[in-house]
Amino acid sequence: MFQMDLLKGRTILITGGGTGLGRSMALRFAELGANLFLIGRREEPLAKTCEEIRAKEIRAAYVSCDVRDFAAVENAIAVAEKEFGRVDTLVNNAAGNFIARTEKLSPNAFNSVMGIVLQGTFHCTLALARKWIAAKQPGNILNIVTTYAAANSGSGFVVPSACAKAGVLAMTRSLAVEWARYRIRMNAIAPGPFPTEGAWSRLMPAKELEERARQNHPMKRFGRHEELANLAAFLLSDLSEYINGECVVIDGGLWLRGAGEFNDFVDFPEAAWDVLESARKK
Ligand code: COA
Repeated sequence: MFQMDLLKGRTILITGGGTGLGRSMALRFAELGANLFLIGRREEPLAKTCEEIRAKEIRAAYVSCDVRDFAAVENAIAVAEKEFGRVDTLVNNAAGNFIARTEKLSPNAFNSVMGIVLQGTFHCTLALARKWIAAKQPGNILNIVTTYAAANSGSGFVVPSACAKAGVLAMTRSLAVEWARYRIRMNAIAPGPFPTEGAWSRLMPAKELEERARQNHPMKRFGRHEELANLAAFLLSDLSEYINGECVVIDGGLWLRGAGEFNDFVDFPEAAWDVLESARKK
């Protein structure tokens, strides 16, 4: 669908870029010609993903950095600029989440997730956008949120994440307007279930939970990484220049299934439909 030079000439910073969906996006953007700068807390996956990108003869570099630390983010960006001259695109992908009963959480558990997701997104956004604005250069930002933010529903048992992602979505919509005059575009993607080691170990820790989630899905399957990576590439590319402040859901219809009053009828056996329909005919 895309020209292989769709992102040529771009330098994309991805937070949490060494693993999971961050890694998949990085590899896809590299195929489409972009230089990649990855940040994350653990050096090993960052180094490995960079090697995979370089094997495609694309430039890639990384710095280990906790996005909760603004000075560390500024330092990482300085390293990226030294390597590539300029970073023009940011993907706020780093996240923290776990399933817990909220009454059992410590304040620090809440702060950790808020720190990574909401403050981390703000830190990277602020540090880069300040440079873009000062240099009068355009910029592109993509935030990875979640369907329980996009649907405005929140979600029990992941309350710190629900609060933080709702904040990121508010940031997306606010800055899309405030910074459009600087030619900075900001959009979001709200993924449903995409298997990754990080998310699955925390959110889908047992085979039975995974199977139940698959059965409850309207399409009876989870997302494929390339599906999300292609959407991200489109939203970052010039093809979508007029899309700004948007949040695109990619979940195969999952959140809508929970929202429609009669959607559970998809599980009705044939016999139940026979009873319903014969009642109508009487
Ligand atoms: N349930 C309840 N509390 C938890 C928890 C869980 N499953 N996991 C961690 N916490 C609490 C800790 O007890 C600690 O609070 P305390 O100091 O009051 O005891 C606090 O959260 C911070 O934990 P810590 O281990 O210091 O983590 P961190 O700040 O380095 O990491 C997390 C943040 C907690 C979000 C961790 O899960 C993480 O690193 N996640 C990154 C990857 C990820 O979540 N990916 C999934 C994306 S869907």
